Amino acid sequence: MPKRDLLNLISLPLKDFNWIMKRAGEYKKGFVLLRPLENQSIGLLFEKASTRTRVSFDVGITRMGGHPLFLSFDEIQVKRGESIEDTARVLSSYLDGLIIRTYAQEDMELWAKHATVPVINGLTDLYHPCQILTDLFTIYQNRGPLKGQKLTYIGDGNNVAHSLLIGGAKVGMDITISSPKSRQPNKDIVTKAETLAEIKGSKITLEPDPAKAAEDADILYTDVWVSMGDEDKKASLMKALKPYQINEDLLSKAKADCLVMHCLPAHRGEEITGAVMDGPNSVIFEQATNRLPVQQAILEFYLKR
Ligand code: CP
Ligand code: NVA
Repeated sequence: MPKRDLLNLISLPLKDFNWIMKRAGEYKKGFVLLRPLENQSIGLLFEKASTRTRVSFDVGITRMGGHPLFLSFDEIQVKRGESIEDTARVLSSYLDGLIIRTYAQEDMELWAKHATVPVINGLTDLYHPCQILTDLFTIYQNRGPLKGQKLTYIGDGNNVAHSLLIGGAKVGMDITISSPKSRQPNKDIVTKAETLAEIKGSKITLEPDPAKAAEDADILYTDVWVSMGDEDKKASLMKALKPYQINEDLLSKAKADCLVMHCLPAHRGEEITGAVMDGPNSVIFEQATNRLPVQQAILEFYLKR
């Protein structure tokens, strides 16, 4: 069987998505296959900072009997000019899988093309598939079937927004993105999501007014105003995104039992207030906890099945 990679959610068939969701539920309940990653070494190659993705993959691999090997880009020869092509080839001869966090999605695809072992995208500037699989799992666990639920994303039209558009559309959710003009999501990704949504009979909406966007939402979701790699644009981002905060006023526009979500890390007082983050609608820390069982299911699916 050819190796499988998880580079984005576009190419993930619905039956495979359903398998991952079901298995994640089993991992969460404590069901563990007998060390499915026994004798496997998996590289964690990170070019950007990470708390959740790095630690949950490391712990997940260890619990599954495998050996995680963390490799910062700063400490491998890539930093000194060795090509991705050569590095991918060499690492594939020692390792059984690669989890990569990098900037350009094109680089992620290059790693996958030249690695002979599965590559899992642990975030690029364009996508964050492992996060969104966890988010959909968290919504399902709290609310049941995903189809027809309205998720409104408030804030920067970034990697998280892009993967929510694709993942949400795939499962028939109505996705509304509320971002300022200067930070709209990528047009091609919106078009892809619209095509997927049409198949499912759901809607993709771009609504720059956050109050309108929040109306009747089943889920309100946000992310940092300044993503990794955008630090040089901090001042203009903070200004443009100021009206895009999840606070009690915005929450009051949504359904009373609306779930509040955030992929974390959060900047309290910027994209979300502390009161909402710690309030009764928030499932933010449950979301973070779910990274572990969902990624165990992802690891089993891509490295073992
Ligand atoms: N949500 C998320 O991916 O967090 P980290 O950047 O800490 O991995
Ligand atoms: N959009 C954020 C997500 C962090 C998990 C970033 O790319 O920095």
